[in-house]
Amino acid sequence: MQTPFNPNRQAGKLVVVSNRASYVFAEDAGQITWKRAVSGLVSAVEPVLNSANGTWVAWCGRLGSPQGKGVRIGVPAGSPRYFLQEVVLDQEDYRGYYHGFANSCLWPLAHQMIDKCDFQGQYWQAYRKVNHQFARTVLECARAESIFWVHDYHLAIVPQLIRRRLPGAKIAFFWHIPFPPPDVFAVLPWGRQVLHGLLGNDLIAFHTRSYLENFLACAKKYFRLKINPEHGLIWFGDRRIITRAVPVGINWQHFEQLADDPEVKAQAQQIRRSTGARHLFLGIDRLDYTKGIPERIKAFGAFLDKFPQYRGKATLLQIAVPTRNGVEAYDRLKEEVERLVGKINGAYDHGCGAVPVRYLHRSLNEKELVAHYLAADVMLVTALRDGLNLIAKEFIAARTDGRGVLLLSPFAGVADELTSALLANPYNVTQLANRMKTALEMPPEEKRERLRALQQTVKNKDSRWWWQTQLKLISLPQGRLTPEKPLAANQTAT
Ligand code: G6P
Repeated sequence: MQTPFNPNRQAGKLVVVSNRASYVFAEDAGQITWKRAVSGLVSAVEPVLNSANGTWVAWCGRLGSPQGKGVRIGVPAGSPRYFLQEVVLDQEDYRGYYHGFANSCLWPLAHQMIDKCDFQGQYWQAYRKVNHQFARTVLECARAESIFWVHDYHLAIVPQLIRRRLPGAKIAFFWHIPFPPPDVFAVLPWGRQVLHGLLGNDLIAFHTRSYLENFLACAKKYFRLKINPEHGLIWFGDRRIITRAVPVGINWQHFEQLADDPEVKAQAQQIRRSTGARHLFLGIDRLDYTKGIPERIKAFGAFLDKFPQYRGKATLLQIAVPTRNGVEAYDRLKEEVERLVGKINGAYDHGCGAVPVRYLHRSLNEKELVAHYLAADVMLVTALRDGLNLIAKEFIAARTDGRGVLLLSPFAGVADELTSALLANPYNVTQLANRMKTALEMPPEEKRERLRALQQTVKNKDSRWWWQTQLKLISLPQGRLTPEKPLAANQTAT
């Protein structure tokens, strides 16, 4: 049951903190307007606020004077359920914090792509400054009994800053991307400070056990801690910290409903007709170097090369959602992908039959997204490394027709759960090309069987399970914990 929202009373006790939120603000001639933002983080986090009320503190897209107070609105307009408290960032700080430390240091580091890291002292300074600014805003929103729920690598030191002012506060954190092993983390010049920030939490959650184990191994290397592997507990000074693997789930009913919408079904048929392909492979990703898009296009070229019977009949439809423009590695990737698409089409498009690669550089709304899921024969989620990957879960939920194959990278966090998917190593072009053929030629009963098992998994741990698990853990009185499965054997108490 949802609690009625009363903007005249203080907001609920939940304070969510993240870089982005559910709305993007813009300013035009002194007027502030806002529009909906769609992202995995929004779908995961917003239901909690809709149900528990509270406040969401985030940067909502406006750059300006950090001294100027951000806007606070009740959303959605008309029937508000929670408050959105904006943090306005200074242009220079934003560049150093977002383009710099978050996306040119922590992001490539967490994905174990050290060659893409650019460690600059000024980035770290900007990151610290912006984290302090977020913490100040959060503290202004706090009330007695507040529960703070901080999200992702942009805000790693916010928890410790809250803790310093409110020693008894309840603080939870979800790290949405991979956590690297200690020998990779060791290259970060400010590793100790980042970990210290995270150790300000009462609960730290990750998508998978291996990220959690990596985090524990890193924390143990830098700090004197006691770890209880059986219960996933850390003692840091006089405080106890709970750690857990709690992969983000989706609202699968919503995707089932969209897949059943006649308008979406018609759009799916239209997509197929427009490609002219008898066999359709689909890739939908942010245009990020972690997603393995060049490797996928190369593998598709190898597939056409090795299996000529599919030339003119099979198409790879690759949708690349624009992201992080202005970060050099992303600008370079865009050029590389465009060059590869031209190369494969130049080699295999003979003017009749289906075009080998169709490439769209744009974002999709939810209905378009599901129409694409329905149109595809094979969904390619072949990331080089990925925190989880919600596209894989959404595709599964949408394919109630029992057709369609998920071809998945073992290096996407979601592979830990989706054990009935067809796997392929994205670094192994030949294997990926062979698996593309296996996916197309898979008997219909096997497709149905695999999808059924995958759907069960997606339903068992849905979006509600995700947030309820964490909020329950953070609300538990000390000592009331259900034992977890033991961690790795080498994670003994110290
Ligand atoms: C990842 C992160 C999110 C982030 C998203 C999009 O999924 O975990 O926190 O919002 O990428 O990236 P962007 O830089 O556009 O926010």
